[in-house]
Amino acid sequence: MQEKKNIMDYDTVALDQEGNAVIIIDQTLLPGRVELIALRTAQEIWDAIYLLKVRGAPAIGVAAAMGIYVLAKNIETEDFEEFYREFCRYKEYLDSARPTAVNLSWALKRMEQAALQAGRAEKKTVPQVKEVLREEALRIRGEDIEVCRKIGEYGLTLVKPGDGILTHCNAGQLATVKYGTATAPIYLGQERGYDFKVYADETRPLLQGARLTAFELYSSGVDVTLICDNMSASVMARGLVQAVFVGCDRVAANGDAANKIGTSVVAAVAKYYGVPVYVCAPTSTIDMETATGDQICIEQRPAHEVTDMWYKEPMAPEGVKVYNPAFDVTNHELIAGIVTEHGVARAPYTESLKNIMSQRIQG
Ligand code: MRU
Repeated sequence: MQEKKNIMDYDTVALDQEGNAVIIIDQTLLPGRVELIALRTAQEIWDAIYLLKVRGAPAIGVAAAMGIYVLAKNIETEDFEEFYREFCRYKEYLDSARPTAVNLSWALKRMEQAALQAGRAEKKTVPQVKEVLREEALRIRGEDIEVCRKIGEYGLTLVKPGDGILTHCNAGQLATVKYGTATAPIYLGQERGYDFKVYADETRPLLQGARLTAFELYSSGVDVTLICDNMSASVMARGLVQAVFVGCDRVAANGDAANKIGTSVVAAVAKYYGVPVYVCAPTSTIDMETATGDQICIEQRPAHEVTDMWYKEPMAPEGVKVYNPAFDVTNHELIAGIVTEHGVARAPYTESLKNIMSQRIQG
């Protein structure tokens, strides 16, 4: 009998051997079924991102980078300018799948820069440009592992063994290539015997906390307790939580951070109870061109996610108005620190983030 593989042994996003498809875990089926799917066409890649089959800011970026390579590989021309025009059409299309996570446009821009450098500046042939794109996509994937591990190391300095940690949504391995961002300190802590007690918000309406975070932490042997979104005040009031670690989809230059809807509620509650909130963000998620959180585009999602999606029959009157923003912005005043691969940024964020970003450019 074939031994059942642990969810942590699967790649969240990978390129197939021949470079003809992006292979992802279909996260909409978790935790019930672990199914790998191959994405080959622009429509398949777009749909997978829009439908959250692959989700989480860094994983979306990696999927887009690999996706545009797969599409570019099939562009049939020897002329670079013609190739580039077609490449840009794919890039714009993929970029339109989800608006909030900056990693999507960040990864696609990086792929575009690689193509331009190779094709225009270095006058490489189109087949050579394609090879450069393959290498760049794999580099983006490799860097994500490195970056998340560093976030884990810095995050670990903010907590101590035995602490209770609350997290919201899934900023775990399933949202990245490995380790996750908000979960990286938890996984590294576990390797070192820190014995954290983790509280995972279920995260309505798409239940990423229950279906994904609780699943991956539980599968890894972490002490995790699932709570409903409206229970964070209860666990904090009882002194069960010493720190909140969350991921994010875009950090503005002033430190305002967009993350899964409900994060700002947790942050406001944590402020009341004196629990520090740490936003874990690779520098690819920091958008210095967006001055404040007010300027972040928040994705609105369909009503059925709230009324019907997880129920045998609708749990709301037919035709009722539904407000379903996928993200909210946590004001920088509620954030105790932004944990990046270059260290922990502290207020005033306008200064500290500038500093962190300059290290990224040098490094
Ligand atoms: O809509 P999702 O599931 O893509 O939302 C994910 C989140 O909000 C994560 O916290 C964020 O992308 C950070 S992932 C490291």
